[in-house]
Amino acid sequence: MNIDGRAFRTIWLADDGASVKIIDQTRLPHLFEIVSLRSLDEAAHAIRAMLVRGAPLIGATAAYGVALAMREDASDAGIENACQVLNATRPTAVNLRWALNDMRACLQYIPQDMRVGTAYVRAAEICDEDVAINSAIGDHGFELICAAHEDIPDDRPVNILTHCNAGWLATVDWGTALAPIYKAHDAGIPVHVWADETRPRNQGAALTAWELGKHGVSHAVIADNAGGHLMQHGMVDMCITGTDRTAASGDVANKIGTYLKALAARDNDIPFYIGLPSPTIDWTLSDGVQDIPIEERDQDEVTHISGKTRDGQIVSVQLTPDGSSAGNYAFDVTPARLVTGLITERGVCPASRAGLAGLFPELA
Ligand code: MRU
Repeated sequence: MNIDGRAFRTIWLADDGASVKIIDQTRLPHLFEIVSLRSLDEAAHAIRAMLVRGAPLIGATAAYGVALAMREDASDAGIENACQVLNATRPTAVNLRWALNDMRACLQYIPQDMRVGTAYVRAAEICDEDVAINSAIGDHGFELICAAHEDIPDDRPVNILTHCNAGWLATVDWGTALAPIYKAHDAGIPVHVWADETRPRNQGAALTAWELGKHGVSHAVIADNAGGHLMQHGMVDMCITGTDRTAASGDVANKIGTYLKALAARDNDIPFYIGLPSPTIDWTLSDGVQDIPIEERDQDEVTHISGKTRDGQIVSVQLTPDGSSAGNYAFDVTPARLVTGLITERGVCPASRAGLAGLFPELA
């Protein structure tokens, strides 16, 4: 997508053909900084510290992390070590495991001296595939937005609520939840996005608002607790969020707070859709609520908040009393029964094993 008229992806190979460039998302929206990853450890750090985040981008970064690792040690042990180090960075987004399994399968049976080149080629393919998948999700979700628009009598914008950031910053390009919105906007369908701020790390306030603004999409940031009120007053036509791991049963893990939005949407008869790339499906799990591992992060993300002061300084301040502890559960699981449909690259399906198997019979 474009930043001030210049096309960007979130991750790309540097001109030296070895290091990998990323946008440091911990600095947005106030600073735009590009960082180079030169080693396995730097790639692992970028995922763990959330310079890159969002399930598909975590997978893409892990793939390049393996390529960087092959430059350091292309032995069988080197492959295993890279996969272990990267797999330990974040537990919930299953794209990480998916990408590492893919890289391992691609590298383990080829001669050692071919592993560096092959790893870079495969990592680049994983990135390109992610872009194509998300563009297709955009096309299918676009149909849903068009249908909603036709049902609106006075040509007012289609009001879409989203949670966290499942836009192009969370993927290699396009995004998942936001891809249909970009496609609708680009086609001249009026859309307005309610972006949940998404405490504690504020991916909605910082990242979703930033990327929608850069693309010229109408939006407003709302406090996390505002969605239910807007839904009760006819101010939300549909919800679309992303997912970090969707069980084969259709239960959807996404950023903490997604479940509450799905409950409010159900109570108000508002469709609740998920943008779901197939690498985010965990075919091994049948009960997402019980079985999807939920990341718990540092208390500081809850007790502190960072932002820009009126004189332009970026600072972090403490919100809570000295000595109060905090719980920081990063994700929750929305049961399949609350999900209207899964928008995948192959079309929209019910949130169920049968629905997913109908679209992906070769994976089910
Ligand atoms: O903790 P994050 O920022 O990595 O969480 C991201 C989300 O929850 C996104 O909604 C999800 O990864 C889908 S991204 C297309």
